[in-house]
Amino acid sequence: MEASPNSSESECNRRGACGSHSFSGVDRRAATVSFALPPPWRSPVTVHQNIGKINVDATARWVWDTAPVMCEFLIDHAKRLLAGRSVVEVGAGTGLPGLVSARLGPSSVVLTDLPSELELLEKNVEVNVAQGKEADVTVRACAWGELDEWQGEVFDTVLCSDVLYHQPRNILKALANTLEVLCSKRSGVVVFAYHFRENLIHDAQFFEFIDELFDERARFDFGDVWMFEWVPKRGEAC
Ligand SMILES: C[S@@+](CC[C@H](N)C(=O)[O-])C[C@H]1O[C@@H](n2cnc3c(N)ncnc32)[C@H](O)[C@@H]1O
Repeated sequence: MEASPNSSESECNRRGACGSHSFSGVDRRAATVSFALPPPWRSPVTVHQNIGKINVDATARWVWDTAPVMCEFLIDHAKRLLAGRSVVEVGAGTGLPGLVSARLGPSSVVLTDLPSELELLEKNVEVNVAQGKEADVTVRACAWGELDEWQGEVFDTVLCSDVLYHQPRNILKALANTLEVLCSKRSGVVVFAYHFRENLIHDAQFFEFIDELFDERARFDFGDVWMFEWVPKRGEAC
């Protein structure tokens, strides 16, 4: 069965940037979702969602409500978290935060997801990244815990938006390890957007793995979205 969009496009800013409307959640039935940046950026970042067959899991092909919150946060903290830095997004889905980041002065951006979920990401890069204007943006497979191809590659900023949804413990551990492997011990920070959905007791397992690997540098609350900044534990080798 095919799902049909009820509108062709949707805007997803929570505040300010594209008007005074308040954010009431991303429209999952829209074909595209646009995020407007404040001046001097003229054009929004517009990602395609892939509604596809409704009996097939579309988790990676929707913009989840946490993603625009992370985009606003990254705009507010771009100097500190993005300017001149190498960026990787883990579990990127449609890639909205990574694509917004690409406009905010990083040296490079890599968008990653499961090998089966890269087609839409590639399309969204093609639509949004103007050659020569934005940072270099590439798409690569990164299944959590399967990191042979990533050995020795580290990033200054690791983005992760809304990736906890009651997965088994081994997946949560693989995710925490993936963040650790990709995050530079010298200059790295993980920016992790967590959507609180009454699963905190289950998700606490993931936060325990994180506690072993990272120190919490900051936490910002935006209603039921919590934004964490984690830095590798001190005393580890560079
Ligand atoms: C709820 S979606 C969030 C997508 C996007 N970050 C957002 O906020 O809109 C979770 C994402 O994690 C990815 N994911 C789930 N399990 C994964 C795994 N084992 N390895 C890599 N990515 C995974 C999914 O494919 C999906 O893109």
